[in-house]
Amino acid sequence: MGIVLNIENAKRDTASIKELIGLTSDDMGRVNKLILSKAGSDVEMIPEVANHLISSGGKRLRPMLTLAAAQMFGYEGEGHVKLATSVEFMHTATLLHDDVVDESGMRRGKKTARMIWGNQASVLVGDFLLGQAFRLMVEVGSLDALDILSTAASIIAEGEVMQLAAAKNLETTEDEHFAVIKAKTAALFSAAAEVGPVIAGASRPARAALRSYGMNLGLAFQLIDDALDYGGSSQDLGKNVGDDFREGKVTLPVILSYRRGTSGEREFWKQAIENNNADDGALEKAIGLMTRHSAIADTIGRARHFGEIARDALAPLDATPQKAALLDVIDFCISRVT
Ligand code: IPE
Ligand code: IPE
Ligand code: MG
Ligand code: MG
Repeated sequence: MGIVLNIENAKRDTASIKELIGLTSDDMGRVNKLILSKAGSDVEMIPEVANHLISSGGKRLRPMLTLAAAQMFGYEGEGHVKLATSVEFMHTATLLHDDVVDESGMRRGKKTARMIWGNQASVLVGDFLLGQAFRLMVEVGSLDALDILSTAASIIAEGEVMQLAAAKNLETTEDEHFAVIKAKTAALFSAAAEVGPVIAGASRPARAALRSYGMNLGLAFQLIDDALDYGGSSQDLGKNVGDDFREGKVTLPVILSYRRGTSGEREFWKQAIENNNADDGALEKAIGLMTRHSAIADTIGRARHFGEIARDALAPLDATPQKAALLDVIDFCISRVT
């Protein structure tokens, strides 16, 4: 696989976040130290499970957003490092929980924690990390930041529950689907970006700009993630391609193919998504139908659209290296293969 996205993404090999990585590397060094120390516990199983996921890396995209967004407005304290760590802990916790909900077997190129220690341990260690995230926010002492991130934590959970309630429902509309991805993914991107200007004491319009940037970037990110689940490679992604299909998850490529399909095709989707006839042969057929109806291409098109909104959200802000780096992130998210 991998063919579909190759055709669609001219920028695939060029877009990079090296500027963002460069600008945040000192701070990220501190974030990574704090992550390791705050994942510690006398209860042995906690660091064991947490470090399994943490040590396998991940892109660390969300904490870098927080750091760059704080730097952008001249922040000079240590609070952004703690908030960035909170953000990554919230993300790590949602991954531990999400892999239980999605019954996923692979994450960041390794077996998921649930496959090694079981669902119960995964959920509970996720809860621990979420607790640690909130303790760090309290240490920072910004009630506004606490408000933004705690609200995001509730919204993420709502998004995952909304998705659960909509599971296997092929009648899901595109609007309903956007509400789900806005909550489960974009809310954290948005909060991660907004807390930067918040602790830097930036203006309300600056906060709103970063919030909107993060929200639309997050929507684009998840749409590409959904496209990659059909068009990417497991090796690149570090998670199993086709998981969404096997699980009967109704993501945008499925919604578009189902709506645009013939009645015979819709019957195929019902068998696959509602009745679990989702073996490799069915997956191949699904990808064929997606190609026929431009469903992957149009999912990427929707992602580009949100990317443009993210870009315009930052337009009024002064030109700084951080702003340029955040703009690069948009292209990176749209052309990413991991
Ligand atoms: C995975 O996020 C969860 C989604 C929102 C699709 P990332 O792709 O940022 O995961 P890591 O942290 O890089 O592994
Ligand atoms: C991503 O959900 C959002 C959260 C983790 C809350 P997905 O289920 O689409 O993400 P992956 O594909 O498992 O990374
Ligand atoms: Mg998942
Ligand atoms: Mg999920």
